[in-house]
Amino acid sequence: MAKLKWWQTAVFYQIYPRSFADGNDDGIGDFKGITEKLDYLVNLGIDAIWLSPHFPSPNWDCGYDISDYTNVAPEYGTLEDFKTFLKESHKRNIRVILDLVLNHTSDEHPWFLESKSSRDNPKADWYVWVDTPPNNWQSCFDGDAWIYVPERGQYYYHYFMKQQPDLNWHNPEVKQAMWDAVRFWLDLGVDGYRLDAIGTIFEDPNLTPHEVPMTLAELRRFTELAETAEDKQLAEKHWKSMFKNQFGQAGLHELMKELRSIIDEYEGDRMLVGEDENIDYMGNGNDELHLVFNFPLADTNRITPEHIRRNQVERLSRLSQLPMGGWACNTLSNHDRSRIYTNYGDKHHDAELARLNAALSLTLLGTPFLYNGEEIGMTDYLLPHISQVKDTMGSWYYHTIVTEMGVDPEEAMFRTAEMTRDKNRTPMHWSNKPNAGFSPDGVTTWLPINPNYKDGINVREQELNPDSLLNYYKHLLKVRRETAALIEGKYLPLHETSQEYFAFLRSSENQLALIVLNYSEKRLNLDFSDTSEVSGRKLHTLFSSGVRSRVDHTPNKLTIAPFEVFIAEVKP
Ligand code: GLC
Repeated sequence: MAKLKWWQTAVFYQIYPRSFADGNDDGIGDFKGITEKLDYLVNLGIDAIWLSPHFPSPNWDCGYDISDYTNVAPEYGTLEDFKTFLKESHKRNIRVILDLVLNHTSDEHPWFLESKSSRDNPKADWYVWVDTPPNNWQSCFDGDAWIYVPERGQYYYHYFMKQQPDLNWHNPEVKQAMWDAVRFWLDLGVDGYRLDAIGTIFEDPNLTPHEVPMTLAELRRFTELAETAEDKQLAEKHWKSMFKNQFGQAGLHELMKELRSIIDEYEGDRMLVGEDENIDYMGNGNDELHLVFNFPLADTNRITPEHIRRNQVERLSRLSQLPMGGWACNTLSNHDRSRIYTNYGDKHHDAELARLNAALSLTLLGTPFLYNGEEIGMTDYLLPHISQVKDTMGSWYYHTIVTEMGVDPEEAMFRTAEMTRDKNRTPMHWSNKPNAGFSPDGVTTWLPINPNYKDGINVREQELNPDSLLNYYKHLLKVRRETAALIEGKYLPLHETSQEYFAFLRSSENQLALIVLNYSEKRLNLDFSDTSEVSGRKLHTLFSSGVRSRVDHTPNKLTIAPFEVFIAEVKP
């Protein structure tokens, strides 16, 4: 097997800077806090950090509305603090990739302020301007996609919040300015980028209207109220067709190639991972993005053996068709998605399922991305009051359904708490002290702390408990690091009709590993003697989430406990 690159063997850990660690006691995370926690990450056993946006921003979209691409948000520190963080990370062999938001800027970015000031300023064509709204397009966050600006007597286009105007990527000056920003951080030594929302960069040049007979808020509401299978299907169909002309349009391959060639000018195998599931954006496997996320694995609220197998066949066969080969990238949560514990739980075995799903993302073929807080089992926190909502797509929805649709405020709040991404962005729980040890007692944190930090869901208590989820993650990460087959081994599914468990081999040149994930509450008696790679050999236990009396087992008589994660090396 060809030698793998660092981004193929690494486990990534996403840090959401506002919520990770508060180093200056103001209720907001910052670089001082992150830097102080680097040893925690070393102990955890991760290899790379994906840092969500750390740039100056008015925070209409929690940092994804950037007003300066080459600086640090004052609440997070200074550029010097960033450099210290980067240096300290590299010192510990932790790579760092940044978030790169190409589609839009903040409406307070100087580029936009200039662009909107008149029709003939030097940046007049840097955003998408029209004389009258040419169609019924919606923004995916807050209704009408076209916003009137009196200074120009024209409308601009936005796919996300109205405070996030879309850049005009057909303009070569826009590209140049953005590539300068890209180089700025690469010159400082960052190891790559996670590309935000790339699918939204170009729009249908014919501006074809969508055919959904609803506005965004109406469709959201329709989806919430859909009870019959028919209505649910219809809602899904509408979501797809509402944005189809604003998403995944021509032009992106050329753009990604251009960006890739900049990245490749730098030493050290810098990398790009796209926030998109479309493998086409990996080009020939060596000329566009290095990775795209396997979101289809995560896009379900019940992870089952059948779902995983289907996903793997589909993704891995597609990746193998790339002329230069492709590498998988698995993730189950991030700052936009429900927490693993909540999302894939069944309310009875949430703890067991969280352990199984952690093992899933760390044993499947591909680069795993973990999200901060998952390692201690943080759960979604439904905000009780609208005044606490920071995710503006949430507050926009609340006010729209209350004022325009007459929805009862109590119900509206419940719906909002469920749909806003605040629920999975609450501050990290470092201990069971007040404010979860994130900020000192008495400080108001930027989002409320989930009160369940008192129930053992915090780092300090879990560090002291050998059976905690945190220690489970540490152990699993260590086993992964020490087991070449789990990093580079080919994927071979076994017992492919089982509904109860997911069993597979990872086979590398010198090692063979068997993984069994029991998604059922049944004790299983399994027989792998029908598998030629395993038959007549012994199974040497590398990891088990249960208690095993013996280290070695025979493949024809393998007992697996309910919800057990079992990893073994297949030995002669
Ligand atoms: C991406 C980000 C999300 C953000 C959006 C607009 O989907 O992950 O948090 O709101 O892009 O930048």
